[in-house]
Amino acid sequence: MTQGDANLHPLARAARNPPPGWQPQGIDVSVPSIARVYDAILGGKDNFPVDRAVAEELVAFVPDGREAAIYNRALLGRGVRYLAEQGIRQFIDLGSGLPTANNTHQVAQRIVPDARVVYVDNDPIVLAHGRALLAENRYTTVITADVRQPEEILNHPDLRSLIDFDQPVALLMLGIIHHLNDDENPNGLVARYRNAVASGSYLFLTHFVDHGAETADLQKAILTDLGSGRFRTLEEITAYFGGLELVEPGVVHIPLWRPDGPLPETLRLTEKMIGGGIGRKP
Ligand SMILES: C[S@@+](CC[C@H](N)C(=O)[O-])C[C@H]1O[C@@H](n2cnc3c(N)ncnc32)[C@H](O)[C@@H]1O
Repeated sequence: MTQGDANLHPLARAARNPPPGWQPQGIDVSVPSIARVYDAILGGKDNFPVDRAVAEELVAFVPDGREAAIYNRALLGRGVRYLAEQGIRQFIDLGSGLPTANNTHQVAQRIVPDARVVYVDNDPIVLAHGRALLAENRYTTVITADVRQPEEILNHPDLRSLIDFDQPVALLMLGIIHHLNDDENPNGLVARYRNAVASGSYLFLTHFVDHGAETADLQKAILTDLGSGRFRTLEEITAYFGGLELVEPGVVHIPLWRPDGPLPETLRLTEKMIGGGIGRKP
């Protein structure tokens, strides 16, 4: 066991150092999970062979496909930094995923040390790892809930103990809304969250972008392997921002959103696979 492992929640520690034949309780290691596959794509350690196999299969659809996830994490850092610089002190990160480098609370609290961050994910492994990471951080919590149950999330006592809905809040929905199929009312759900927050709040959202035939097979594979995964056009993604004022440069392929450095002249598919932006509630 490494020194870092000693601080982990027992479930997370066991998942990292499994004795032969060990099965973590409450986690089905024979079925891939979205959070663990994404962790595997990012090169994390919190995943199982079934997740790694799906990750390998999916990234092979697009040259340098792994980079799409890396661009998404890089945008998370730039976007949260932007929001904290606008004075936002409260963040609700829906579909937060497994902790990795530069998580929302780390980026936000570098700028606003007492920024409140609530992570929400429906995969219990996120709670197991998140609890260990956040044990020392009283301004941050993790709850296990489904984004399709907005009332449960918005009224959750742990969320309510950190978030003041009379003050502006940043709603983060990075890489999650494409896991809602059309019959699950993604537009209505995003609107429900937008309506719950005060004027001056922000929505920060990223989503798979539909490039017709170029992304059709990948969409089919994601749907088959993970049970959800819908590519939508930049126009459809823009509609999630409803009546919000889009922050410049609007909803774009993510490397183009306020880049920190120079960009290639033409974007490849891996750079165009995810789009998103930030909108402010007037
Ligand atoms: C692709 S990861 C994105 C992680 C992180 N937001 C990021 O952009 O780096 C999507 C996450 O959404 C979570 N998720 C998928 N469907 C969900 C749902 N209905 N409710 C809550 N979380 C969900 C998955 O468990 C996974 O951790």
